[in-house]
Amino acid sequence: MEINMMLLVFSYLIGAIPFSLLIGKWFYKINLREHGSGNIGTTNTFRILGKKAGIVVLLLDMFKGALPVLIAILIDTEMHVFIPGLAAALGHVYSIFLKFKGGKAVATSAGAVLAYNPILFIILLTVFLTTLKLSKYVSLSSIISAIVFFILSIVFRDYLLIAFSFIIMVVIVVRHSSNIKRIMDGTESKITFM
Ligand code: G3P
Repeated sequence: MEINMMLLVFSYLIGAIPFSLLIGKWFYKINLREHGSGNIGTTNTFRILGKKAGIVVLLLDMFKGALPVLIAILIDTEMHVFIPGLAAALGHVYSIFLKFKGGKAVATSAGAVLAYNPILFIILLTVFLTTLKLSKYVSLSSIISAIVFFILSIVFRDYLLIAFSFIIMVVIVVRHSSNIKRIMDGTESKITFM
């Protein structure tokens, strides 16, 4: 197998590891998919397992997205270095270990963006935190950040990133369809600490 293909397979597989489910099962004897929003992401981990597990899952899920991009940068691959990060994000959403189900792509995509362009990451983090402060909805903050990611890649004229950020934006919006419905119903849970 050639190196680019090996990196893509590795990126998908590392992205597909459901760290929150493993931590929930191993250390808390809780199946995260049966509690809260049922999502395997950072937000539901904070909600159900608490702050310590939430921080660990956030870091691990971001690491899943960052590592493939860093490897691509280090081995000087011919492909766009964000592609392995995208593969990891898609692995997180469509995990081979969960019958092609999974999370909502937010933390893993954020990790990929951080490794690709830390300034872009800081801008998107600012957008995320500002939206969160104003709305108290993590889901809405994730959606807005994904849309801003797409808009910024157009502004930066990073043509391949436009395509990748478009895919991530669509996946994030589609995966948050139940959250969007709950926001409109007024039943989406809000954070209480900001
Ligand atoms: O990262 C996912 C977040 O945006 C929403 O998670 O559990 O509230 O559906 P959740």
